[in-house]
Amino acid sequence: MDLKKIISETIGGITASESDIYALIGVPASPEMGDYCLPCFKFAKELKKSPQAIAGEIKDVLDRRRDYRPFTVSVVGGYLNFRFDRTFIASHVLPEIMSGGETFAPKESNGKTVCLDYSSINIAKPFHIGHLLTTAIGGSLYRIYRRLGYNVVGINHLGDWGTQFGKMIVAYLKWGDEKDVESRGVHALVELYVRFHKEAENDPKLDDEARAWFKKIEDGNPEALGLFEYFRSVTLKDVNKVYDRLGIKFDSYNGESFYNDKLDGVVELLNKKGLLKESEGAQIVDFSDYGMPPCLILRSDGASLYATRDLAAAIYRKDTYDFDKNLYVVAYQQNLHFKQVFKVLELCGFDWAKDCVHVPFGMVSLEGGASLSTRSGNVVYLSDVLETAVQKAEKVIEEKNPSLENKRVVAEQVGVGAVLFMALSTSRIKDLVFSYDKALSFDGETAPYLQYTHARCKSVRDKCADVKLEGMDFSVLSDEASAAVILLLNRYEEVIKDAAEKYEPSILSKYLIDLAQSYNAFYVGHRISGEEERVTKARLSLSECVRKVLKDGLNLLLINAPDQM
Ligand code: ARG
Repeated sequence: MDLKKIISETIGGITASESDIYALIGVPASPEMGDYCLPCFKFAKELKKSPQAIAGEIKDVLDRRRDYRPFTVSVVGGYLNFRFDRTFIASHVLPEIMSGGETFAPKESNGKTVCLDYSSINIAKPFHIGHLLTTAIGGSLYRIYRRLGYNVVGINHLGDWGTQFGKMIVAYLKWGDEKDVESRGVHALVELYVRFHKEAENDPKLDDEARAWFKKIEDGNPEALGLFEYFRSVTLKDVNKVYDRLGIKFDSYNGESFYNDKLDGVVELLNKKGLLKESEGAQIVDFSDYGMPPCLILRSDGASLYATRDLAAAIYRKDTYDFDKNLYVVAYQQNLHFKQVFKVLELCGFDWAKDCVHVPFGMVSLEGGASLSTRSGNVVYLSDVLETAVQKAEKVIEEKNPSLENKRVVAEQVGVGAVLFMALSTSRIKDLVFSYDKALSFDGETAPYLQYTHARCKSVRDKCADVKLEGMDFSVLSDEASAAVILLLNRYEEVIKDAAEKYEPSILSKYLIDLAQSYNAFYVGHRISGEEERVTKARLSLSECVRKVLKDGLNLLLINAPDQM
């Protein structure tokens, strides 16, 4: 329920309009002060009074009115603080959550479309730990936007074009073994690629051969295209295993090569708009007026570039999906690239250029350090990270709960969940040093902690299996520990919206930790089963609401919540 609305409806018009007040309402620094607060500093200048005097006046007006309201008001400094009646919030918030069924169904479509470019792996290159953030953040945003009623188009903009495919073909024809590639997939392809670079150091002829093969791909030679398709399918088969484990799907795998026949159109358009300029034989868009390096469109040999393809892709996405927002979840190293691409679109006169957003994130490294270079072959595969986490989870479960059923399934959910949560709980722009021990700790700010709290709620429910949640007496929940949980539960929708607006799943992660902590604080002080019936019922309904929100919130973070662990 919208408690801020209740406040703004009550005091709207006293010093400011309802909507102004609504926008200003916040949460006090400490819960003892109140559940919500209205800072009055903004009104001070206009009213020529101190914020404190203004807060006092609003309170006086309210005190003189005799109508019922579900909150009390106090003045502290320049703030007006509001404290809601505990029974009132319990009796409104909990039934609202309970009535939503077992899962929170997506809201009705809002008619808007979001294109979400994420994960976007490269063919015949490892799917490594550097892709963890784009994959996790994009996958989570996909679910979050769906929940909010958007039509979401998940796009894996495959890196499937470039001279390296000529090298791959040479390496595969010279040293490749179909059976080996069949069984070891991308690992085998990457080894061939590494070998090519080693051998080419002593044998420059190899580079010429590679160029010739790439030319054949460009010219549509069937043998070359066949091999190229083969590398693509081997890679996709491998990465799809990881996507399946993460519960991620894409609506489109249109990668860079998909735009081959659309690049002439882009160049024509830029020409028509007078944006292209020749520089040392290359075609560029000059950005010296904007304090940016130029955007390279065609190399002097006529070859297109990454940016050329992204221009074609953006135009294609607008034409095909008519997006309201076009998001790119890509590392901050590509800040300049996207700035340039969006600027070119703007200069072309596309008003939708403003709807294109780069959602950048930081770098990931593994605790203990390992460099991430494909050429040296020294790289941490994401599949290995997941597998290691699952094995470690299995060990922990073996220690903590050896008699658990479905141990392997739970270990998978805990291990994979731990990796995902670690990726999704840091503000995305920060660099992340990945640590298995931290990710898998049961009492840190981790997935296992949330999953454990969820399983605790579930076991509480099972213990009281025959208790029906009807005929409730919500006055049982008028203590502060219960109220803290209920106020948090009530913020869930708002948190999802905030996470979507800021493209920041970590807002949801932090919220779930707060909720779990506050529930666990409630849990130690309040017995649920074995109390008087009306007490058991009320506390059980609170516990059930927490279970539902934890399960649902984890799901929006791509994480499963086992019933037992
Ligand atoms: N494949 C690229 C890389 O690994 C990321 C592509 C991101 N998407 C895009 N439309 N440029 O760096």
